[in-house]
Amino acid sequence: MTDTKTYYDHSGGGDDERDVYVKEESGSGKHGAFGFLHDIQSRYAKVDPTSYLRRSDESAFHYWGRRLGALKPVELLLAEYDKAELRKYLTWWQLIFIGIGSIIGTGIFVLSGQAAANNAGPAVTVSFVIAAFASAFAALSYSEMASMIPVSGSAYTYAYATMGEFVGFTIGWDLILEHLVGGATVGVGWSGYFKKFFGLFDIYLGDSWTEPTVVWEESPARIYYAEGHYFNVPGFVVIMLVTILLCIGIRQASWVISIIVVIKLVVVVLFIFALCGFVDRENYDPYVPPNTSGDWHFFGAPGIFAAASTVFFAYIGFDSITTAALEAKNPKRDLPIGIIGSLVITTVLYIGFCTVMTGAAHYSELGTPTPVISAIEAVELRTEHSWLWLKVIVILGALAGLSSVLVVSVLAQTRVFYTMAKDGLLPEFFAKVHPRFKTPYRSTILVGTVMAIASAILPVDLLGNMTSVGTLLAFFIVHCGVIVLRFTRPDVERWFKIPGGKRFFIIFPLLGIVISVLLIAVAEVTTIWRLFVWMGVGWIVYFSYAIRHSKLNRDPVGRFAELIRYFF
Ligand code: ALA
Repeated sequence: MTDTKTYYDHSGGGDDERDVYVKEESGSGKHGAFGFLHDIQSRYAKVDPTSYLRRSDESAFHYWGRRLGALKPVELLLAEYDKAELRKYLTWWQLIFIGIGSIIGTGIFVLSGQAAANNAGPAVTVSFVIAAFASAFAALSYSEMASMIPVSGSAYTYAYATMGEFVGFTIGWDLILEHLVGGATVGVGWSGYFKKFFGLFDIYLGDSWTEPTVVWEESPARIYYAEGHYFNVPGFVVIMLVTILLCIGIRQASWVISIIVVIKLVVVVLFIFALCGFVDRENYDPYVPPNTSGDWHFFGAPGIFAAASTVFFAYIGFDSITTAALEAKNPKRDLPIGIIGSLVITTVLYIGFCTVMTGAAHYSELGTPTPVISAIEAVELRTEHSWLWLKVIVILGALAGLSSVLVVSVLAQTRVFYTMAKDGLLPEFFAKVHPRFKTPYRSTILVGTVMAIASAILPVDLLGNMTSVGTLLAFFIVHCGVIVLRFTRPDVERWFKIPGGKRFFIIFPLLGIVISVLLIAVAEVTTIWRLFVWMGVGWIVYFSYAIRHSKLNRDPVGRFAELIRYFF
């Protein structure tokens, strides 16, 4: 039987004038051996707004099932970039700065030392190289996605366009772990360095108002009130200050990030050059300490991998660049430059930093909340020479560095919410833009306040582990999405393509998928449980609110018309 349908055909590569309605006949057997691929491509390339509506002969079960997999067409996403009310201000170098601003933080200033002391010894540098590979695969997939769909929802948007609304919402919900929970983690790390700064001058701030209220224990899992710890005031205050900055404007925020990033880079380079002459070769011996307790996590070659999963946190952030896509001037070109540029620069710095840190102090001395300062103190002890000036500068640099991670965390979270609200999957509240500042100010205030309270109350390990698994899940989805779009939308222009040509490109996202799954698998069991619980809460929100308010499903014809003026 032949079934004739009218579609909106946008397969001419995004050129407005060439958009036409076409009649296509299915069931005529003309597709031959490639019929299956052709059918799938039709689903992605030819978009009929009425196909989202319920058909008269369709059962409720089939219709609602179909809604879960409703795709947001690439053309709608491209139209959204043109229509966005946010200010298009960011250039490629500002995007690199946002990337570095978001990447260098707790991972290098805190977790590097802990991973050396507990898991890998001096070979923590190798762990950083392994984690860099995991991140590099993700950077390639994000770059290709961002260069073809430059809109602000990051993994949420990519999933909506490739795997449908339900997966898209799930990943949007998951991104809260990366940005909001990740920001709260950094707020706790910030207070640690804040306290240490005063400690240098023999001023000791008590724990009552500088530590989170509760403690988390992994084994057996329990959470309890930490006697005498009331509220982490420094973490709370710094996040609220960042929130005010982001309400005022992307331009101001971008300048603050740029200044902070310069300070942070100078401090990291200064640390490397100041201490490289004081490396004691004996600290590298043995470079890979033998396994201690029979548990694979502790030293030996496997310990290097355990450390890699911890220090992976240090690379999280390059993907945040894509959440600012609507505010970029030339996103198709500049987003890939920002992602890959910031990752390359930070990888080189991390390797230098770890090599010097583990050479300056014995790895067993680095398991402190401020390992960088512990490394300088080890040199002070050996040389009997005070390096107070270096410690002051490094702490100020770390505080500045952690602050810029906070700025990008709030920025990224509000942009993901903005995009989800624009699609109707979250309330309109999150998409409200300030008429003068052109920022989603209401959402910024809410996100900032929740992040600040989480940082004031919850402990760093609980928050940090959730951030890593949440991010890895997002990476996994983006790798899948890049593969899906290569096969389903080969016609859409990509300024950046994963190398390897038509067939072999797939090696990179596949390796990325494998690494993401492995790193999730080595996470603590309770962390994986918490991930499921979090997703369960998200699915309640989806089925009780989002699915009924989704603009694409409620009023697809209106939604298309709203975004593409020439549609009808
Ligand atoms: N990469 C960021 C940090 O290390 C999240 O703080």
